[in-house]
Amino acid sequence: MAEQGVEQGMQSRYMFLLLWASQGNTGPSAFWLLLYLISSPKALGAVRAEVDRILRETGQEAKAGAPPIELTRDMLLRTLVLDSAVDESLRMTAAPMLVRAVLEDTSLQMADGREYWLRKGDRVALFPYLSAHMDPEIHPQPHTFQFDRFLQADGSSRKTDFYKGGKRLKYYNMPWGAGVSMCPGRFFAVNELKQFVFLMLSYFEFELVNPEEEIPPIDCSRWALGTIHPTRDIQFKYRLRF
Ligand code: HEM
Repeated sequence: MAEQGVEQGMQSRYMFLLLWASQGNTGPSAFWLLLYLISSPKALGAVRAEVDRILRETGQEAKAGAPPIELTRDMLLRTLVLDSAVDESLRMTAAPMLVRAVLEDTSLQMADGREYWLRKGDRVALFPYLSAHMDPEIHPQPHTFQFDRFLQADGSSRKTDFYKGGKRLKYYNMPWGAGVSMCPGRFFAVNELKQFVFLMLSYFEFELVNPEEEIPPIDCSRWALGTIHPTRDIQFKYRLRF
């Protein structure tokens, strides 16, 4: 970096940015995904059935005395139900603020006909958590975790057709942002989340200590920073399945 003219102070800042960007969102995202699954027997059953099926198809089994599971990329490409659960969990808990610098005078045309004039030097902040993720017209019952929301009704493929005002939307779920600065770590992050859940569900049974307790609300003071943290901890018990 130094050879390319990046001075020492900026190099440290960049390394710190990368540290935060790669760690800051993945941990809370893994927390929410596992919690939503543990809290919904139907969702947990569906994802576990998928995990067990893939294990069987690859000649593996999670049982006493069996060798450790060998989880391959190919296996993680066959998890339509888990993919939907990941998308749904991110829809409900990833609330980034997308900030863009206006480089020249321009106007922004909204779908409903409104138009905003933007001046060179302005900054625009978009908050898709409210405009897309939580819009009940796009995602009915937006505050309810529906593990199969991003799965076609017959379960054959990922659901990508979402509508508002009769128009099909390009941006209906934006945990990774959009455009040139869209999260470059998204494939890595999704793989981390999927590996974590795949292995947890393969090896363990889960039980909430207080099943009557509501899912903790998100901490709104962290809106805009990425994946939101819960306002309190959750206690759960886990044990080997075999
Ligand atoms: C669940 C986990 C993650 C979420 C929800 C997330 C979300 C985001 C969002 C919303 C942005 C800003 C996008 C925009 O401005 O349009 C971003 C940027 C970024 N993310 Fe992630 N991210 C995650 C994991 C990761 C991981 C694992 C890495 C690295 C291995 C990473 C590296 C980055 C970097 C370097 C940027 C800056 C990109 C730029 O400004 O050009 N992220 N991420």
